[in-house]
Amino acid sequence: MKHKALRFGVFLTLGLLISHTGAVPIQEGRDALQPRDNTTTVGISQSLLDNFQLFANFTAASYCPGNENSTSDSLITCTDNACPLVAADNVTSLVEFGGSNDTTTADIKGFVALDPTRSLIVVAFAGSGNTIRNWLADFAFIQVPYTLTGCTACLIHAGFSSGWAERRSAVLSAVMSALETHPNYTLIVTGHSIGAGIATLAGAELRSLNYTADIYTFGSPRVGNTAFATFVTSQAPQLGQNYRMTHENDPVPQLPPTWVDYEHTSPEYWLTGGTDTTDAYAASGIVVCEGIGNEECNAGTGLVPIDGTAHNHYLGLISACQGPVAF
Ligand SMILES: *[C@@H]1O[C@H](CO)[C@@H](O)[C@H](O)[C@H]1NC(C)=O
Ligand SMILES: *[C@@H]1O[C@H](CO)[C@@H](O)[C@H](O)[C@H]1NC(C)=O
Ligand SMILES: *[C@@H]1O[C@H](CO)[C@@H](O)[C@H](O)[C@H]1NC(C)=O
Ligand SMILES: *[C@@H]1O[C@H](CO)[C@@H](O)[C@H](O)[C@H]1NC(C)=O
Ligand SMILES: *[C@@H]1O[C@H](CO)[C@@H](O)[C@H](O)[C@H]1NC(C)=O
Ligand SMILES: *[C@@H]1O[C@H](CO)[C@@H](O)[C@H](O)[C@H]1NC(C)=O
Ligand SMILES: *[C@@H]1O[C@H](CO)[C@@H](O)[C@H](O)[C@H]1NC(C)=O
Repeated sequence: MKHKALRFGVFLTLGLLISHTGAVPIQEGRDALQPRDNTTTVGISQSLLDNFQLFANFTAASYCPGNENSTSDSLITCTDNACPLVAADNVTSLVEFGGSNDTTTADIKGFVALDPTRSLIVVAFAGSGNTIRNWLADFAFIQVPYTLTGCTACLIHAGFSSGWAERRSAVLSAVMSALETHPNYTLIVTGHSIGAGIATLAGAELRSLNYTADIYTFGSPRVGNTAFATFVTSQAPQLGQNYRMTHENDPVPQLPPTWVDYEHTSPEYWLTGGTDTTDAYAASGIVVCEGIGNEECNAGTGLVPIDGTAHNHYLGLISACQGPVAF
């Protein structure tokens, strides 16, 4: 590639969109913007980068075998030093699903957890144990209707649809009862890879039930058609923000391709200017691509040659507990 983006003069607009809100445990890193046409800016606030790091740690924890099917109220812990930020917060699990004994079709692993230190309810989804290419291809990029109220003519990938259907009741009931007990906690939905696609569906549905949820995804494939991407994009800012992170030339966010009618939510936060193994990025260099179909970030790097390494590095080795996610 690599830095095709540097060709774009519009990058010179320094987009330091910071809104410090003081005492809240996690800070919104940018002003609430309406969905816009293709606009590309450089730089985010340090507090938003800190949030990305925190939720990358939660997502990393969802890969760890110790957080598989343990009893409610047990601490979320990680091997491989995968989630120091989570461990420091004494995060407890409300429900865990998936893993070694799982018999569901889509094999989605993750948890709903309580972070008492930062007053958060976090829903986290790991990528699939299968290779990503096979997982997406098993469902042949087939789209099925998505029937959430307000999402007109929406279609989503059949795999994400069944993956979420298999976790929906466990996640929704855990979140609803947690919010009853902790009405002032902030709800966050996060995930990596295939799990990022499931996180998008989980967040969109929680929002449709009038819960405010920020969605943080890392290396998400495209989940649905343009109508779906537009719908999720337009849930922000009223019902929570969309924070979709991509890394360099990660191939996964480039699938399924746009020519079979898939699009991404906006905005995209692109880690660029390093290599496929870079973990440390400065907030001032992160590129923000707004607009459905904006190709100035990850989408512009090209799928070929396929470089699966970039997919495992999201501010750290996000799948450290499992080993590299195979493309
Ligand atoms: C953004 O750019 C893409 C690729 O050039 C284009 O297909 C799309 O229509 C643009 N979207 C908007 C909202 O301008
Ligand atoms: C986490 O729990 C340990 C052991 O109970 C305690 O020492 C520590 O202060 C707790 N940390 C936080 C941030 O509450
Ligand atoms: C999986 O099933 C085996 C056999 O029933 C059991 O010993 C093991 O604890 C289960 N693993 C998990 C994570 O529940
Ligand atoms: C979780 O534990 C229960 C009870 O031990 C067991 O029946 C179930 O198969 C386990 N599920 C997974 C995904 O390991
Ligand atoms: C939520 O309420 C508890 C108890 O009133 C308080 O200690 C905590 O600081 C509150 N958290 C937030 C994020 O407002
Ligand atoms: C969500 O809130 C809106 C505006 O207050 C209301 O019109 C809608 O019926 C609510 N939806 C649900 C599912 O409660
Ligand atoms: C988790 O947080 C630690 C400490 O900030 C960081 O070094 C690590 O890279 C993070 N992990 C991920 C996957 O971002």
